[in-house]
Amino acid sequence: MSQQFDVVVIGAGPGGYVAAIRAAQLGFSTACIDSFVGKNGKPSLGGTCLNVGCIPSKALLQSSENFHALAHDFAEHGISVEGAKFDAAKMIARKDGIVDKLTGGIGFLFKKNKVASLHGLGSLKGRVDEQWQIEVKNGDTVETVSAKHVIVATGSSVRQLPGVAIDNVKVLDNEGALNLSETPARLGVIGAGVIGLEMGSVWKRVGADVTILEAMPTFLAAADQQIAKEAFKTLTKDTGLKINLGVKIGAISVADEISIAYEKDGKAETLVVDKLIVSIGRVPNTAGLGADAVGLQLDARGFVVVDDHCHTNLPNVWAIGDVVRGPMLAHKASEEGVAVAERIAGQKPHVDFGVIPWVIYTSPEIAWVGKTEEQLKAEGIEYKKGSSGFAANGRALGLGHAQGTVKILSCAKTDRILGLHMIGPMVSELVTEGVVAMEFKAASEDLARIVHAHPSLSEVIHEAALAADKRALHG
Ligand code: FAD
Ligand code: NAI
Repeated sequence: MSQQFDVVVIGAGPGGYVAAIRAAQLGFSTACIDSFVGKNGKPSLGGTCLNVGCIPSKALLQSSENFHALAHDFAEHGISVEGAKFDAAKMIARKDGIVDKLTGGIGFLFKKNKVASLHGLGSLKGRVDEQWQIEVKNGDTVETVSAKHVIVATGSSVRQLPGVAIDNVKVLDNEGALNLSETPARLGVIGAGVIGLEMGSVWKRVGADVTILEAMPTFLAAADQQIAKEAFKTLTKDTGLKINLGVKIGAISVADEISIAYEKDGKAETLVVDKLIVSIGRVPNTAGLGADAVGLQLDARGFVVVDDHCHTNLPNVWAIGDVVRGPMLAHKASEEGVAVAERIAGQKPHVDFGVIPWVIYTSPEIAWVGKTEEQLKAEGIEYKKGSSGFAANGRALGLGHAQGTVKILSCAKTDRILGLHMIGPMVSELVTEGVVAMEFKAASEDLARIVHAHPSLSEVIHEAALAADKRALHG
């Protein structure tokens, strides 16, 4: 007799594990199947985000930023250290410790909420008497569990670049880029997207000569272009990343050195590096899920097709996170997970896709929520805007990070906030003010009238909101 549950979740990333916990909280007997194996060869919960994504990358970003500050920035504070040293292996070990702590924490949360945790590859086998049959394969061990509802949360993997194999020794994906035990002298990156910029920044700060090759002629095409242009300038001039836009990658040969032929402005060029990161986007994980066998509909790019409530074409089969349409972000996956569990319980949850924050954790950080100026223009929406910089902000000057801008966009008629775009210190934290304001349908005048602590970085948002009404006090 197979184990029977109300809800089975396939995948224990931030989409799946959160969905499983919420389903259990709502009184459903719940199991979560996950196949991820950690660096130590043992099952590790938390998916891409906790094991090889958000969390380890932010740990390395902080370590490398600390080293860079010690080596270059502290002198102006009157602090100097002779011969500051960097130990890559120790930085990686610290990162591994954080990953172990958080992935282990999911196991604890599963126990606390009575979620059955099953290790193995889950695949849909069919439906018997309204019960979905799900096979769990772990090596030679195969068991079948059944459930009324299935939530597919299998996430995504790196998109491969034709003509070069990722071996995570010389040619790296996110896993390899997060595990280098020493700083490469020359690091190449293909793709100036979020991973390329974050991982490029990490290794640049600790001494690598980093060159990024990007196919698109526009830098960070999804971001507001005023902010993107400022980011390009800072990341190339101050951080020292060499970013080549509008390139066409040609043949790549991997020997002791890696040689990448590319074309830019009609000219043939070659980049020679010691390590190469491939970060050209990610593809949904559906291989082995049994989609064909049960008729689960996938789109032309392999994403599971879902409606606005994350319901698939199959009865009681749901899908969330990176494996479905929308931004590949951990917080988007988690919110969908909560919403699906609540919908199974008969509630009417709603995820507002127009108010999902984006953050790129470079230095300075880049963050936004809502529409860009380019989107507003394309959609013919009349808007007004206000901008303010960090250059004259007392807190930013004290921190030694007085670079960047905040821009607020609001409806020309109603003043309702349509977008908040920023580059600057800790804007990963500041962007939440925009998220809250937009969720509460605030006007830019609301932010202008709210008291912001002094001195604080948030005063730049206040000033931008005042500027939208042409009454900036410090601008
Ligand atoms: P995943 O986290 O990918 O989890 C899916 C899980 O399902 C995995 O454990 C996988 O092994 C397992 N699985 C797959 N198929 C099966 C199967 N058939 N049976 C059982 N298990 C299966 N997002 C942010 O919001 N902020 C960030 O700062 C950020 N940084 C990132 C940095 C990097 C380097 C990368 C690569 C990604 C980053 N992301 C970030 C994106 C974020 O990691 C993803 O959006 C998020 O993990 C998606 O969650 P998910 O639950 O959909 O899938
Ligand atoms: P991405 O989509 O952000 O960037 C990929 C880049 O590669 C694009 O600029 C694209 O134009 C370029 N590209 C594609 N094909 C190319 C080619 N053949 N040659 C040269 N350039 C090419 O994807 P990335 O960086 O791999 O990250 C995947 C996803 O993971 C992100 O979109 C994001 O959703 C998530 N992520 C989020 C983070 C965050 O929230 N801070 C951090 C890291 C990843």
